[in-house]
Amino acid sequence: MLSPNSRTDQNPLTDPTDPTDPTDPTDSAGRPEASHPVAVICGLAGWLPPRVVTNEELSQRLDTTDAWIRTRTGIGRRHFVDPGQATSDLAVEAGRRALESAGLATVDAVIVATTTPDHSCPATAPVVAGRLGLTGAAAFDVSAVCTGFVYGLASAAGLIAAGVAGRVLLIGADTYSTIVDPDDRANAIIFGDGAGAVVLRAGRAGELGAVTHFDLGSDGAGEELIMVAAGGSRQRSAGGAVTRADQHFAMRGKEVYRHAVTRMAGSARAVLERADWKIEDFDHFVPHQANLRILHSVADELGLPGTACVTNIESVGNTGAASIPLALADAAARQTVQPGQRVLLTAFGGGLTWGSCVLRWPDLTASGTRGNRKTTEETAEMSTTYEQLVAIIAKLHDADPELVRPEASFAELDVDSLTMVEISMRLERDLGIEVADNELRGDLTLDETVRLIDDKLEAVGSSAGSASSTHRTKG
Ligand code: UT7
Repeated sequence: MLSPNSRTDQNPLTDPTDPTDPTDPTDSAGRPEASHPVAVICGLAGWLPPRVVTNEELSQRLDTTDAWIRTRTGIGRRHFVDPGQATSDLAVEAGRRALESAGLATVDAVIVATTTPDHSCPATAPVVAGRLGLTGAAAFDVSAVCTGFVYGLASAAGLIAAGVAGRVLLIGADTYSTIVDPDDRANAIIFGDGAGAVVLRAGRAGELGAVTHFDLGSDGAGEELIMVAAGGSRQRSAGGAVTRADQHFAMRGKEVYRHAVTRMAGSARAVLERADWKIEDFDHFVPHQANLRILHSVADELGLPGTACVTNIESVGNTGAASIPLALADAAARQTVQPGQRVLLTAFGGGLTWGSCVLRWPDLTASGTRGNRKTTEETAEMSTTYEQLVAIIAKLHDADPELVRPEASFAELDVDSLTMVEISMRLERDLGIEVADNELRGDLTLDETVRLIDDKLEAVGSSAGSASSTHRTKG
């Protein structure tokens, strides 16, 4: 469906494509190049199943509305597989188009990043490889939930760096519609099905398309925040009845929201430091398309304008491991990125897992976003807790200033539940206090919130305590 590039076949080890300067022995940061081969993207494509499910269609059978879904997530529609279609069907379509885009008929390895494999055993990648005429290639799945594509890129880069493979087909593919309870309105509205794929070949760090630096991480303590409880060895060895809920995808949405913003921003900063890039050095930020509001929060944390974010979530929803390659394929098809532009990929997913990498865009032309950078967010010195709280609300929510009074509740100001999460994250970041999701309620007034904050400031000790003496309620 989305197949932006077309290349001729080449020997990846002797014939690098699109060299920035074939004689330049330095990488993108001007440092001596690595002595090992570096993975270079040379093919890209996406595939979406034809069936489109709009918000209106969902609202006919779920207690939801187009407005609720759009304001909470930025999603307008998504694609679902038809009955009988599986993840490998989407992966094969995307993989075939990516190979065409690279002008290649064979690769040495096929990696499928997915949370929704065709079966729990065997992996999906060998089946996909076989259907693509790649029998004999190494083939395995990567399981890192929505971070799977970035983990897959790192795995492919490792195979190439070690000389195990010269060309790798990496596919991110998911069919969340097969694991989300269709009656679970919080999750059914977010996810869509799809597949995106890249072909990587051995090359040099100075080339366009070179994926040069990674940051990967995990925190297993967050295992239960995103989970399908049944179907694995834990449930099987325990025996007993399996409930309908256990078989479906479960997510603690608000906690995930917090982690997604914090981890994606942290990982992005880490990889930029590793690559010796500054925020103002890169042109496009391509995050995992989790929820538009998460993406804007991460961009904001990084000091980027929302326009630096490459996003297609409005039309595809959250497609799990497929989301980054689908967003890349979409950007390539629209020519919103130019060869040589610096691109930052960042993902977050169940596990918990997170990861980022940087690359120089391999192909296509477009208008960049360089020069349109915001350096910092609100930095004004605030003298009272009330003013700080109001400044945070103003930053995150477009409330009528007339209504913003100490006795106004969040509900009266029309502050929704996710904005409350963002407010508590700001309080944590700016004031160093922890505010649990259940402490910020719709019926809480700003005055009561200030008292809550001041009590917490008092409790966190002398440094925060001395600051808290100046944090008194106004009015
Ligand atoms: O790729 C993996 C990463 N995952 C994510 O990025 C997801 C991160 N989390 C989120 O995006 C949000 O948590 C959701 C969009 C999934 C849900 O938003 P929320 O504000 O956390 O919803 P909630 O489940 O806490 O529900 C808040 C209210 C409840 O109503 P009451 O109890 O306050 O009256 C829900 O019943 O919103 C209600 N609600 C809905 N209303 C209309 C929940 N889902 C819906 C819906 N339509 N679809």
